[in-house]
Amino acid sequence: MAGHSHSHFHSHNHGHPHEQSHHHGETQNREYFNQQASTYDSKHQKTLDQLVEEIRKRVGFIGVDWADEETSDEEGGEKDEKKEKREVRLLDYACGTGLVSRALAPYTTQCVGIDLSENMAATYNARAANQGLTPQEMLAHTGNLCLPESSPSYQSQTGLFSAPDFFNFDIAAICLGFHHFDHPDLAAKRLAERLKPGSGVLMILDFLPHEKMDSSHPASETVIHHGFSQEQIHKIFEQAGVGKDFGFEELAVVFNRATETTPKFKRKIFMARGTRAEFNTINSS
Ligand SMILES: C[S@@+](CC[C@H](N)C(=O)[O-])C[C@H]1O[C@@H](n2cnc3c(N)ncnc32)[C@H](O)[C@@H]1O
Repeated sequence: MAGHSHSHFHSHNHGHPHEQSHHHGETQNREYFNQQASTYDSKHQKTLDQLVEEIRKRVGFIGVDWADEETSDEEGGEKDEKKEKREVRLLDYACGTGLVSRALAPYTTQCVGIDLSENMAATYNARAANQGLTPQEMLAHTGNLCLPESSPSYQSQTGLFSAPDFFNFDIAAICLGFHHFDHPDLAAKRLAERLKPGSGVLMILDFLPHEKMDSSHPASETVIHHGFSQEQIHKIFEQAGVGKDFGFEELAVVFNRATETTPKFKRKIFMARGTRAEFNTINSS
C-alpha cells in the first residue's frame, strides 16, 4: 500500500507548525481517516455506543422540535389517520461512520452526512444500506465545507453542496470533528448558514482542553486543537450566528485510549448547542 503513494503533499510536512498551511489538516485528515475507516467502528465500539446513549439522553437539551417524541399523546385520540411524521433534517458533518446519524435517526426523518474521507462516507453508506435505509433517509457525501474562500478548491466544493437539499436543516452536528479542523470557527459559520433561520440548532461534541498528544501517535498529525473551553466554544457560536439559547454540558463519557506504542490518555467530552437567529445579524466580512 505504502509502496505507491501518490501524495505530493508529504514533502513539506517536516516539522512545520500546523497553522502554517490551510491544507495541512485536510491532507493529513483525509489520508489518516481513509486508513481508519474499515476498523473505526470495531476499534472504538464501546466509546461510540456510550456516545450514542449520551446524545439520546440529551434530545431535550439539544432542543430541536423532533419528529418522533413520546409527548405527542396530548393530541388526544381523535385523529383517525396515522399522523405523518414532521420532517426533521439532520446534517451530520465530519460524519465518519455515522455515529450522530445513528443516535438521532429515531428523532429525525433525514440524515445527510458529509465527510472529507471518501472511505468514511462509503462506510457510513454501507451501514445505512445494511439497516435497510434508503438514500433519501440516510446518505453521506464526500466533501469539505470548511475551506477558506482563498482555497483553490473552495468553488468546486461549495458547488457540490449548493442544491436546496443541502440547506434549511433543523440540526447540524459535528461530533469529534472540531479538533481536526484548521478553522473550527469557519466550520461553525458554514454549518450555521445551512440551518433553518430562527430554529435550526448547531450541536458540537468535542474534547475539553487536554494535554498535547504524543507526537508518536499515528493520529497526532491530524489533531490541530487540543480541546476547547466553554468560553472558546461560546464565542465561536456567537460569531457564527448560533449563540441563541447557548447550552454547554460535560458528558458522562471519557475518551480512553492507548496503543502499544503510546501511553493511555483520558479526555472529557462536552456537548454544546445553540440556535440560529431569525435574522442574520452577523457581519458577513
Ligand atoms: C474522529 S472522526 C469522528 C467521526 C464521527 N463524527 C464520530 O463521532 O464517530 C473525525 C472525522 O472528521 C473527518 N474530517 C476531518 N476533517 C474534515 C473536514 N475538514 N471536513 C469534513 N470532515 C472532516 C474525518 O475524515 C473523520 O471521519
